[in-house]
Amino acid sequence: MQVKLMCTVLYLFNDVGLRHYSRTTCLKVFGAAVNSQRGKPTYTGQIIPPPAKYGGRHTVALIPGDGIGPELLNHVRELFRFSCVPVDFEVVHVNSSSTSEDDINNAIMAIRRNGVALKGNIETNHTMPPNHKSRNNLLRTSLDLFANMMHCQSLPGVQTRHKNIDIIIIRENTEGEYSSLEHESVPGVVESLKIITRNNSLRIADYAFKLAREKGRRRVTAVHKANIMKLADGLFLQCCKEVASGYPDIEFDSMIVDNTTMQLVSKPQQFDVMLMPNLYGNVVSNVCAGLVGGPGLVPGANYGRDYAVFETATRNTGKSIANRNIANPTAMLLASCLMLDHLKLHDYANMIRGAILTTMNETRLHTADIGGQGTTSEVVQSIMRIIQSGGPLTTEI
Ligand SMILES: *[C@@H]1O[C@H](CO)[C@@H](O)[C@H](O)[C@H]1NC(C)=O
Ligand SMILES: *[C@@H]1O[C@H](CO)[C@@H](O)[C@H](O)[C@H]1NC(C)=O
Ligand SMILES: *[C@@H]1O[C@H](CO)[C@@H](O)[C@H](O)[C@H]1NC(C)=O
Ligand SMILES: *[C@@H]1O[C@H](CO)[C@@H](O)[C@H](O)[C@H]1NC(C)=O
Ligand SMILES: *[C@@H]1O[C@H](CO)[C@@H](O)[C@H](O)[C@H]1NC(C)=O
Repeated sequence: MQVKLMCTVLYLFNDVGLRHYSRTTCLKVFGAAVNSQRGKPTYTGQIIPPPAKYGGRHTVALIPGDGIGPELLNHVRELFRFSCVPVDFEVVHVNSSSTSEDDINNAIMAIRRNGVALKGNIETNHTMPPNHKSRNNLLRTSLDLFANMMHCQSLPGVQTRHKNIDIIIIRENTEGEYSSLEHESVPGVVESLKIITRNNSLRIADYAFKLAREKGRRRVTAVHKANIMKLADGLFLQCCKEVASGYPDIEFDSMIVDNTTMQLVSKPQQFDVMLMPNLYGNVVSNVCAGLVGGPGLVPGANYGRDYAVFETATRNTGKSIANRNIANPTAMLLASCLMLDHLKLHDYANMIRGAILTTMNETRLHTADIGGQGTTSEVVQSIMRIIQSGGPLTTEI
């Protein structure tokens, strides 16, 4: 697809007129209607933020997080500017070493205001007292981002043991083992509560089947351990079965989680859409990311009824490789494409995604995590060159 972009610079004054925002406005010659995702933006507080959408532009909360998050998100901003993407960012820093929850509450407010966020992972200090909750988890539960979605697909040019993997993983994102309800009433005995509710299980199952139908998928596999956790996982499985009966066009089966991991590492091509509670989803999505080349490649999305937050699929900070220009930017860049799709900016998403995939196909540019010597900025520059030269074929991932 040939894409031509024209850019003009426009200065907009906010309501109080104290600051101005410099924005690059782009006219797309291949025009696609831009629609707001949400019904009504919530608008509160004294410091007046830019509206979530103004004159066809969207505002998105940007949470750099820790480790490689800040540098990767800088590359996203650079690439968006270069590609004239009509998105502005409201940057919110969350300080993981502070014990107060003010930062994370600010971040949550910014997401409520804008509806959409792109984030790096926030480090969780394990030695903090138990009442210190994971910021990432707090963010997901506060915004009721109940569905985590990850698409694990073999990429052209990336050498892996298994080929032709194409799995969508749907993970319940708000309950299960992540309830943060733990106590030690008797010294030496800790109880950690795993919460499975009928409502939330039906909700996630319905999300999975809807998505499967929308994407033209054949089969949904529920992953569980109902042979041991007869009540909790039993309820989850029961809910999946009930929802499945409403989707006769989609096959349904189930697999015990331990067998699932074994089947995944030996014959991953057998899976289509996988549906599971929180912790199994965490483990299985990491196994799947490993199968297609590692954490640097796979994007992830968290959807709720009102909000959506995009990040890398495996939620690690990559602290050891931060600020060395060696991190693989692919996962975060693809996450930004998922975000553009969510904003219905499909042409931009396809253009950037196509350029990323064409770059990945070039072994010379591979970063160290996938066996190359390329740097983060070389990858990003290559993507820009491809976009400038008129763009690659559009590719859906
Ligand atoms: C984690 O928390 C402990 C105790 O509050 C503190 O001593 C330590 O420096 C923290 N580590 C990091 C990496 O922030
Ligand atoms: C995080 O907060 C702590 C104390 O609240 C402060 O000492 C530190 O400088 C902050 N770090 C950053 C990166 O803002
Ligand atoms: C489950 O959902 C129904 C319908 O939305 C609601 O009436 C009910 O209170 C919910 N149950 C629980 C335990 O939240
Ligand atoms: C594991 O899954 C495979 C593939 O569906 C199945 O054939 C096998 O019987 C399962 N093994 C166990 C122990 O459940
Ligand atoms: C990847 O590169 C190979 C060899 O250069 C080429 O045949 C193939 O069409 C490329 N695939 C994509 C998706 O660009």
